Amino acid sequence: MIGKNIRVTLGRREILHGLDFEARDGRVTAIVGPNGSGKSTLLKAMTGEIPATGDMSLNGRDIDAMQPWELASVRAVQSQSTTVAFPFTVIEVVRLGHSAGPWAAEPGIPEAALSRLGLDGYAHRYYHELSGGEQQRAQLARVLAQVWHPVQAFQPSWVFLDEPVSSLDIGHQFVVMDLLADYARQGGGVITVMHDLNLTAIYADHVVLMKDGQVLARGTPAEVLTDERLSQAYDHPLRVNRPAPSGVPYLLPQACRDAS
Ligand SMILES: Nc1ncnc2c1ncn2[C@@H]1O[C@H](COP(=O)(O)OP(=O)(O)OP(=O)(O)O)[C@@H](O)[C@H]1O
Ligand SMILES: [Mg+2]
Repeated sequence: MIGKNIRVTLGRREILHGLDFEARDGRVTAIVGPNGSGKSTLLKAMTGEIPATGDMSLNGRDIDAMQPWELASVRAVQSQSTTVAFPFTVIEVVRLGHSAGPWAAEPGIPEAALSRLGLDGYAHRYYHELSGGEQQRAQLARVLAQVWHPVQAFQPSWVFLDEPVSSLDIGHQFVVMDLLADYARQGGGVITVMHDLNLTAIYADHVVLMKDGQVLARGTPAEVLTDERLSQAYDHPLRVNRPAPSGVPYLLPQACRDAS
């Protein structure tokens, strides 16, 4: 996914100020940044949910030139919040994704997707009766069911996710992040908005740090998640730890307080 000079104006405000974005298949790309920095707007601009100017391409093709069915066959989207207006069961929600994707004729995918998200036994429950975290996992199952195979006809499939673990307990956060990492290792593309910088440090191959509708930094977690950059982005003194031997950066709230 490549976006050049992406600009979004909502109402009278310019929200994204002509930023460049690149995410490669086979990698987990995390978009991080403070509330209101434009993460969801960027995701929506790339998925065509809101109007944007700039050049955007997916798998080397201009997105504007792709038909909706072509896009649906290579990428699936999970928004920050999703409302299901009808009394659907969980399996019906997941089948919505499955039927939009290229493997609609391949049986068993919705059930397998539910299983990957630890939702065996939930298929025939009403979606609106699930807890917030269960609903979020069901939505990810819908996304997965749409683009089940990370590579199709030598082309990568993509998932665009807006805070997919925000309502999840720590165990299920790891289940989901492992699943996304596997998807990328198998050749798919993963673009995910994240608030948890520790999970980002563990799982992201590439990090895009946003502030005020622009990209403040991009690179590996080690390059982007630094004291200076995070403190600048979040307007708060933050201290990053790098324990040996992994060197994977992590933040603790206590450490943040000590830093001030
Ligand atoms: N429909 C809209 N009309 C006007 N302004 C909007 C609209 N949607 C979002 N904005 C503004 O755009 C800015 C970026 O919003 P966005 O939802 O992209 O932030 P975010 O980085 O995803 O934040 P969060 O971490 O809270 O989800 C915010 O200042 C928001 O108020
Ligand atoms: Mg958002």
